[in-house]
Amino acid sequence: MTAVVTVATAAPYDVTVGRGLLTAAVDSLPDGAVRVLVVHSAPLRDRADELRALIEASGRTPVLAEVPDAEEGKTAEVAAFCWQVLGRSDFTRSDVVMGMGGGAVTDLAGFVAATWLRGVAVVQLPTTVLAMVDAAVGGKTGINTTEGKNLVGSFHEPAVVWCDTDVLHTLPSHDRVAGLAEVVKGGFIRDTGILDIVESETAALTAPELDEHAMTVLEELIARKIQVKADVVAADLKESHLREILNYGHTFGHAIEYTERYQWRHGAAVSVGMVFAAELARLAGRLDDDAVDRHRDILTGLGLPVTYQGNRWDALLTAMRRDKKTRGDMLRFVVLQGIGNPVRLEGPDPALLAGAYDAIAR
Ligand SMILES: NC(=O)c1ccc[n+]([C@@H]2O[C@H](COP(=O)([O-])OP(=O)(O)OC[C@H]3O[C@@H](n4cnc5c(N)ncnc54)[C@H](O)[C@@H]3O)[C@@H](O)[C@H]2O)c1
Repeated sequence: MTAVVTVATAAPYDVTVGRGLLTAAVDSLPDGAVRVLVVHSAPLRDRADELRALIEASGRTPVLAEVPDAEEGKTAEVAAFCWQVLGRSDFTRSDVVMGMGGGAVTDLAGFVAATWLRGVAVVQLPTTVLAMVDAAVGGKTGINTTEGKNLVGSFHEPAVVWCDTDVLHTLPSHDRVAGLAEVVKGGFIRDTGILDIVESETAALTAPELDEHAMTVLEELIARKIQVKADVVAADLKESHLREILNYGHTFGHAIEYTERYQWRHGAAVSVGMVFAAELARLAGRLDDDAVDRHRDILTGLGLPVTYQGNRWDALLTAMRRDKKTRGDMLRFVVLQGIGNPVRLEGPDPALLAGAYDAIAR
């Protein structure tokens, strides 16, 4: 199956989900692109070499920048290394950056492209479920500083995104499942059909190896979650109103990530965060028991965590207050007024917050 989702922002772009897309990715490079920088980390080296050969065969000059893996690559030093590579290869405004990897690499590649000559085109080739359904789509790019994650960045939308699912066979199943947390989020906030599929296909989605059936299911889910993000982003690029719904489960999830010094996978933290938000909504009289149970059933079915240590409330509250999504001192949550209907909850009663924490504490 090949699915194409168009993100209809001011400069619309396509996100293609399918197999064997490397050649198409190179064929779609603009004629004016003479040099192509491929940013990747070591685990994707073989594939980056394949891409290099295709770029060369297209008559262009490939330049490969192998960067440290995962969060190690999202630093100012690594961005500076990429700028140096660009400078030394006389990279011009009409040349193109390609980001091939998980969300860390696509965030870095996007940031490098956003800043080089005040912005050159970036083509994203995400290789994890999370990067396909979230990081590579929507235009947020960035790096970390010692003070925190994603504190420096820019909005820079990709020219095009290629989600080649062939790469997902090598992705460890725990990374696949962590990415599925973001897919499930898309089901809770908008496309409830996603939840039905995850419920009926849990076994296929969590199997150690992806067989043909599982891959087809995964591709459909990836495309549907991208559609959710595309709809929201097209309506609201810079996160003033609608885009906020994409933060479902993230206020508490980010607090867990911070408290755990980023040793938790993002999807695992968001999983607990969604259950926290569901409990908060229940206590606020917005969500019924069945809907909260459905959160737990779906997420535990995938093997994602739904509880957190019971003695960390002060640290979590402090972390939530310093989250960059907080405005002033007012804590803001996205909660559901029924499944598929996200609403904003601002400055909830501290007793409700403590109650929601009690409900997820172990
Ligand atoms: N820009 C955004 O809107 C946005 C949204 C969500 C997350 N993010 C960012 O994304 C990052 C997390 O992304 P992630 O979960 O993809 O993690 P990641 O990029 O750290 O990748 C996880 C690991 O999987 C490896 N890997 C990648 N593809 C593989 C494949 N096909 N086979 C085998 N191994 C593979 C990577 O090399 C890495 O070791 C974070 O930095 C987060 O801040 C950004």
